[in-house]
Amino acid sequence: MVSRTIPTDPFDLVLFGATGDLARRKILPSLYRRFVAGQMPEDARVIGAARSELSDDDFRDLVRGALDEFVSDAKKDAGTIDAFVAQCSYIAIDAKGEGGWKELKKSVRDEVVKAFYFSVAPSIFGALAEKLRSHGIACDNSRLVVEKPFGTDLETAKKLNADLAASFHEDQIYRIDHFLGKETVQNLMAVRFSNVLFEPLWNERFIDHVQITVAETVGVGGRGSYYDTSGAMRDMVQNHLMQLLCLTAMEPPAAFDPDRLRDEKLKVIRALDPVPPSDVVRGQYKAGPEPSYVEDAENPDSKTESYIALKIGISNWRWKHTPFYLRTGKRMTERMSEIVVQFKETPHSIFERDEGSTANRLTIRLQPDEGMDLSVTIKEPGPGGMRLVNVPLDMTFAEALGPDGEEMPDAYERLIMDVIRGNQTLFMRGDEVEAAWAWTDPIIRAWEERGDTPKQYAQGSSGPEEALALMLRDGRRWRDLED
Ligand code: BG6
Repeated sequence: MVSRTIPTDPFDLVLFGATGDLARRKILPSLYRRFVAGQMPEDARVIGAARSELSDDDFRDLVRGALDEFVSDAKKDAGTIDAFVAQCSYIAIDAKGEGGWKELKKSVRDEVVKAFYFSVAPSIFGALAEKLRSHGIACDNSRLVVEKPFGTDLETAKKLNADLAASFHEDQIYRIDHFLGKETVQNLMAVRFSNVLFEPLWNERFIDHVQITVAETVGVGGRGSYYDTSGAMRDMVQNHLMQLLCLTAMEPPAAFDPDRLRDEKLKVIRALDPVPPSDVVRGQYKAGPEPSYVEDAENPDSKTESYIALKIGISNWRWKHTPFYLRTGKRMTERMSEIVVQFKETPHSIFERDEGSTANRLTIRLQPDEGMDLSVTIKEPGPGGMRLVNVPLDMTFAEALGPDGEEMPDAYERLIMDVIRGNQTLFMRGDEVEAAWAWTDPIIRAWEERGDTPKQYAQGSSGPEEALALMLRDGRRWRDLED
């Protein structure tokens, strides 16, 4: 792979929530990796901001600790780490009071790109945005990055949009959905829109159905109190899986440009059918070997789902009779995210078919083992007559593109650099987030009104049996997670 790393313009990135978990696990290590790659210029600065009273040196120690824990050994080098932390500093900030704001105003430079990253609870987004404006720290070309969850329903998302709009224009706001920064997710667009092979077949005439799976082996321990008010539908489907569905289903945009792309995604969300309760399966993991979901959530009566599967229809010409099946869950048998595009059988076969399907299948593997494969049917080698077998045309990105051992860049690396470059293509627009909630809300409301209880599933399984039935009743199957 030829690395084309062009340093960005100089920038000041103010990271609110700099002592928090996301900053340590993702944001600071990603900045460091870009530094190692030569993309972060020498006069770029990272200013940590949080409530705790820390000195610059305390913060630099925290950054060192984060890099030590979350950066691979191959990229760790004492001299490089020293150089990176020298570009980091810290200001204690009181989000709602006056503490720290004057100092921040003095620290950020007007002549460079200014980005403010809110890695904090959404309840203080509005207050922080207002302070940045009223203290004259943010200006019309500063950028604001906000993390998920962007609301818990349509009403709260509208409120957040309105709070941010009071101080920033839409073209300054970068709403993160880190799935959009994943290498294979971007490749989905490259594959769809730069090969003539797929587009003519990419519709209900040739595609039987699409399956989108995001399976995780982790539980919710450690973040149970947040998760229990959210559940898989809000935590994963409304944002990450919705984005995957949109990129798979959208019309080709006229240009790879933020608004053209987001217009097309929005049209998909608006074409989603309401989902009846019979097309939703919710689950909760049972105890063993790790604690059960309700133990992790510390809520014995919890009815929150740690797993969800849905069948979704899209009412437009392209997809009218092609359902999309989505599933995501915690404590499942494998960590595996993929999009499976299952084509139809040939209309007529002149060969005898062995058991099973010979229909083509395009699998886009998001993680681990990023890549894609297209299953095609060929003749089984040998003299035994015309026996057909399905074989994959496999393309694993690491093998096809990467020099030995090179890591795939983390989604955050790409996204943070896009903020600095001022490119909103891989970020969600306010109307898109609201449309996603407008579709999600009635589904959640329906189970809340019914007092729906999630089905129990075993840890290390593929989720509740009922989710299998959701596809079997249509004569279809989920792909095995362990394939
Ligand atoms: C987060 C969710 O947005 O995405 C988590 O809140 C989930 O619950 C995570 O585990 C998955 O992201 P990734 O990049 O590890 O697949």
